[in-house]
Amino acid sequence: MSCTIYYFSATGNSLSTAKILAQQLGDCQLKTVSSCFKNSKVIEEREMVGIVCPVYYGTVPYPVRELLNKLVFTAKSPYIFLLNTYKGHCGATAQRVDLLLQSRGQKLSFAGGVPMPGNSFLNKPGKDEESLSLQKENLALFVEQLQQNPVQSFDHSEILPLRPVDYPNNFRGILAEDSCIGCGTCTKVCPMNNISLKDGKAIIGDDCATCLACFHWCPVEAIIMSKQEGIERRFKYHHPEVSFTDILAQKEQ
Ligand SMILES: Cc1cc2nc3c(=O)[nH]c(=O)nc-3n(C[C@H](O)[C@H](O)[C@H](O)COP(=O)(O)O)c2cc1C
Ligand code: SF4
Ligand code: SF4
Repeated sequence: MSCTIYYFSATGNSLSTAKILAQQLGDCQLKTVSSCFKNSKVIEEREMVGIVCPVYYGTVPYPVRELLNKLVFTAKSPYIFLLNTYKGHCGATAQRVDLLLQSRGQKLSFAGGVPMPGNSFLNKPGKDEESLSLQKENLALFVEQLQQNPVQSFDHSEILPLRPVDYPNNFRGILAEDSCIGCGTCTKVCPMNNISLKDGKAIIGDDCATCLACFHWCPVEAIIMSKQEGIERRFKYHHPEVSFTDILAQKEQ
């Protein structure tokens, strides 16, 4: 089956995972969720469609929800799968995505996850080497299953309340401190175009997807989460095989 994979990634875990997956599947094109953001409709012609993205508080990032709302499938019965990268638990991501797809007359066929280093503010450095070293192995297990084209059913009998990340808002109070040097890196990586420069300093607006790309890619660690006591300073992380250019290319596709 020919396949399109849409990926969203702030620190490269999902980007790297999507690239390896595409190689293993063959006949697979890669598209970025961020590059679809400006379109009101996204026409998808391929029979197999994959979403590769992180888990945010047990659901998918807002830009991924937006894409799912805009996708128009031309295949009669597209085979749609979800592959999450996550730190500890996928939560109800599959149920939520299936529910959303069903509201659009589609369904999620298969979902899985690959554990990866955490990029949220909760994580401490130095505990993630194992998941990185097992990334390819865990992904191979997912591919083995996916190649059988399984069809799962997802129980959403319980109402799944919206999460803070299901719509744009800066509930963590992300802002740039005075140490900001006005380099503009954060304005370029922000998938929501939510950061501007004023008088040589970064200003972060309310259209935030809490992806933490700005936090992790700022060269002087000037981005903080002002509404989160005691955790303003955490470590910077990006996937070792993913460069700043790779992250930028998500918007430029
Ligand atoms: C705002 C936020 C919330 C997160 N919530 C969860 C979570 O609920 N469960 C989990 O296992 N990982 C969680 N994570 C960790 C990410 O899902 C994980 O590190 C992912 O691989 C990051 O992918 P990326 O580098 O492609 O952006 C969260 C990360 C962020 C930034
Ligand atoms: S990346 Fe950091 S230093 Fe550069 S403009 Fe943004 S906050 Fe300021
Ligand atoms: S402001 Fe920062 S955390 Fe919010 S969407 Fe933009 S890059 Fe992500």
